[in-house]
Amino acid sequence: MRSITFYLLTALLLIGHNGAKAQLQDKDLLPLARTVVLSNGTFKLDSNVKINIEAPQEDKVKLENLLNECLNTGKKSKGKTLNLLVRENVDGIEAPEGYNIEIGKKKITITAKSGAGLFYGIQTLLQLADENNRIPTGTISDEPQFAYRGLMLDVSRHFFGKEFVKKQIDAMAHFKMNRLHLHLTDAAGWRIEIKKYPRLTQFAAWRSPAIWKDWWFGDRKYVEEGSEGAYGGYYTQEDIKELVAYAAERYITIIPEIEMPAHSEEVLTAYPELSCTHEPYKQADFCVGNEKTYEFLEDVLCEVIELFPSEYIHIGGDEAGKASWPHCPLCQKRMEEEGLKDVNELQSYLIQRIEKFVNSKGRQIIGWDEILDGGLAPNATVMSWRGTEGGIAAVNSGHKAIMTPGGYCYLDSYQDAPHTQPMAFGPYMPLEKVYSYDPRAEIDSAKAHLIYGIQGNLWVEYIPTEELVEYMIYPRILAIAEIGWSNPVNRDYAAFKERAIKATNYLRSKGYNAFDLANEFGQRKEAQAPVEHLAIGGNIAYAESAPYSDSYKAGGDKALIDGVCGGWTYTDKKWQGFIRNGIDVTIDLGEEKEITEVTAQFMQMCIPDVWFPAEVIISASCDGSEFTELARIEHTVVRDEGLSFKEYGWKGNTKARYINYRAKCGPQRGWLFTDEIIVR
Ligand code: ACM
Repeated sequence: MRSITFYLLTALLLIGHNGAKAQLQDKDLLPLARTVVLSNGTFKLDSNVKINIEAPQEDKVKLENLLNECLNTGKKSKGKTLNLLVRENVDGIEAPEGYNIEIGKKKITITAKSGAGLFYGIQTLLQLADENNRIPTGTISDEPQFAYRGLMLDVSRHFFGKEFVKKQIDAMAHFKMNRLHLHLTDAAGWRIEIKKYPRLTQFAAWRSPAIWKDWWFGDRKYVEEGSEGAYGGYYTQEDIKELVAYAAERYITIIPEIEMPAHSEEVLTAYPELSCTHEPYKQADFCVGNEKTYEFLEDVLCEVIELFPSEYIHIGGDEAGKASWPHCPLCQKRMEEEGLKDVNELQSYLIQRIEKFVNSKGRQIIGWDEILDGGLAPNATVMSWRGTEGGIAAVNSGHKAIMTPGGYCYLDSYQDAPHTQPMAFGPYMPLEKVYSYDPRAEIDSAKAHLIYGIQGNLWVEYIPTEELVEYMIYPRILAIAEIGWSNPVNRDYAAFKERAIKATNYLRSKGYNAFDLANEFGQRKEAQAPVEHLAIGGNIAYAESAPYSDSYKAGGDKALIDGVCGGWTYTDKKWQGFIRNGIDVTIDLGEEKEITEVTAQFMQMCIPDVWFPAEVIISASCDGSEFTELARIEHTVVRDEGLSFKEYGWKGNTKARYINYRAKCGPQRGWLFTDEIIVR
């Protein structure tokens, strides 16, 4: 019988439920385990440990290899044992990847329903071990929330070799992630050898210049493999086999993505007969009417399916322009013959036909959420990226969804104050934002089981080097790993950040170029606390000619005089957006007041068409009809890179009850965003 002291002690050492403080020795688990009860003893995990594995042969080999690698096992003696047992039923464990661990001073037993469960149990032990390989005694019971815990790496916009991919697989395994989605094909380069179509890798995999931005905003030409200045590359079929095997040894499945019907400029330049106009360099979308398109896609998929044993093949499906289809006789004929009423249904025709083909090979398709448009293929799994709506619609119609909404899971966005960071594609999305995501939010509980999992996506348009890839992935992928694995009741950002800092130190010690989380700059200072000023509590009227946008209301009519300023991104719902017609608002302070300052901040981010104003006019009035101009600020609006902020204001001395603030667009028109008109 266990003594009362034992129970008191274990209660103190319990981590897991209710966010109780982690008390692990030296290192904390990431992802957090479901229940951890540690006691005072230690077990030294070293080459003296006798290893006993009862598992299917294939798992046995993998686990032996893993332990040989990390324990450097030699002679076995001293009576210590590590038992790794696969059992059909494991106490309290439902998920196939779950495990229980009993750690005694002489014996550790991991029991799991699968080799993967044993593998994750070992990862937990390795994370718990101190620098002398000592593991605290106790018990652990753990299983994942989601079956799919993924990272997507874009290897088209810039190419990364197989050794680098293996290095990322190692990190994924350490944090219990299990799917690597490789975006293998896109305009910027085709990255997988297909024997039947050699021009894909002799030509469509190479370009000049190397930097995507220079190429994309330049002439977007492809060049022959081996020609002077050719940048690119591809995985040979042997490379792919090596990567697939390397990942499988670490219980990671590689999911290949072959884009269709869009993002295919490189294919349609190498094989122009597959586009509607048959002209190289003109089209991004396959001709959906032409039978040759299906012949090509099926041939490619046959080779891909042969190489990748994954249940799922990703077939893209995103962002088709569909512009050539209405003018193409073959596409029009197809629509007529199939009774398709619009181009969305035409895209859906292709996706459904490809799904049938993939299903006939015993596999399933995943597509980006645009595959919902025009009718979802019957067995498809949807990857929800344009927000969560696609995933919600998919599960509501009985399909599985993988949640990867841009606002939480796109790792190409800024992870810290933009002025402190290398140029990024998306807005401010720090670790805390990623960690705040709940893939089951807004999902009907009856459909929650259809949420297959979560994925972090790294698109690499602005990420030309391996160092930068790692910098953008780590530590934000750790939040994805924890959301994918750990029970959400234990979610506590402050505690997670501490563990993530330790995890980034670990990653650095292993040669990964992780972002320096411990020295994060953080949120824009204006957004950290409300600002006090004279207009708060007043009224504001918007000129009819310049309303704010329904998409960026920031809380509506009082948003510009509520004391709340925006952060590093207009997507935080604190910046009010005005499209094309500028701003023209009149603030009523309620009574005449002495005024010394009127000012507002604007942001500029040219890629999403957000610009500084070309002119701001600030006027004041005592009666609301006669206005005196206080300031007129002119600015030449020019395109620049990244994100910047600019203040347009007046300082002086006057008396007024009404303030009129007008901002005019520059020649680019586009959006104006401001967060507050501060009156002092
Ligand atoms: C995507 O980001 N175009 C899926």
